[in-house]
Amino acid sequence: MKPYQIKEFVDCRIDELHALFRDVYASSNMMSETLAEKYPDIASFARDLATLRQLPGAIALAVVIAHRPGAYVIIRPRRPSRLQHTADLNMGVARRERGQGLGRLILQVGLDRARVEPRLEIVYLMVRADNTPAIGLYEQAGFTPLCVLHRDIRINETYFDGVLMRLCVVPGMASSSPMDPVARATSGPA
Ligand SMILES: CC(C)(COP(=O)(O)OP(=O)(O)OC[C@H]1O[C@@H](n2cnc3c(N)ncnc32)[C@H](O)[C@@H]1OP(=O)(O)O)[C@@H](O)C(=O)NCCC(=O)NCCS
Repeated sequence: MKPYQIKEFVDCRIDELHALFRDVYASSNMMSETLAEKYPDIASFARDLATLRQLPGAIALAVVIAHRPGAYVIIRPRRPSRLQHTADLNMGVARRERGQGLGRLILQVGLDRARVEPRLEIVYLMVRADNTPAIGLYEQAGFTPLCVLHRDIRINETYFDGVLMRLCVVPGMASSSPMDPVARATSGPA
């Protein structure tokens, strides 16, 4: 692997982070929303990161390669007081850096951080059922599939299943068993 540094988002340049998100979203149709929907402009991206920083227990890390962020992970604690022991994870690797272990690295670093964050107990994520690279990565990291949300995502007239996965990050406690078997096939057009 090329030499790298792990950096907090707060120590990265916002335009470089935004460029990384643009690259990930432009090179993958696996996300449930487009970048334009999530962050219409760089100002909304900056506002969301500022909000994230205010959330106790939030984790936002980047792998920096050759002075540029090449992968990110965000673990965002849920807001309601009764859900603050749970968090949602999302991550991405720049197109040019995929397949070289960066995804595994940033996920592991993020989860190691979550394990020593006393507020966090459960990390959830949603992934499209046909996102084989991501599901392989999450399973290797110990995430358990909980259920399949049939026809969760619609792109034009084609429906895709989603998989809800979770990992318990309390040391010594295992994630719960799957409630439903996970079918990885996509459902076809309506
Ligand atoms: C999914 C993603 C994060 C993987 O990152 P990556 O750096 O390419 O993955 P790594 O090189 O670290 O590989 C780690 C594991 O992921 C899986 N994986 C990665 N690429 C894969 C591929 N093309 N096909 C199948 N499995 C793959 C494997 O299990 C691999 O482990 P192995 O090398 O022991 O087989 C990256 O492809 C990405 O950013 N995709 C677009 C955004 C996205 O889908 N984000 C997740 C949304 S839920």
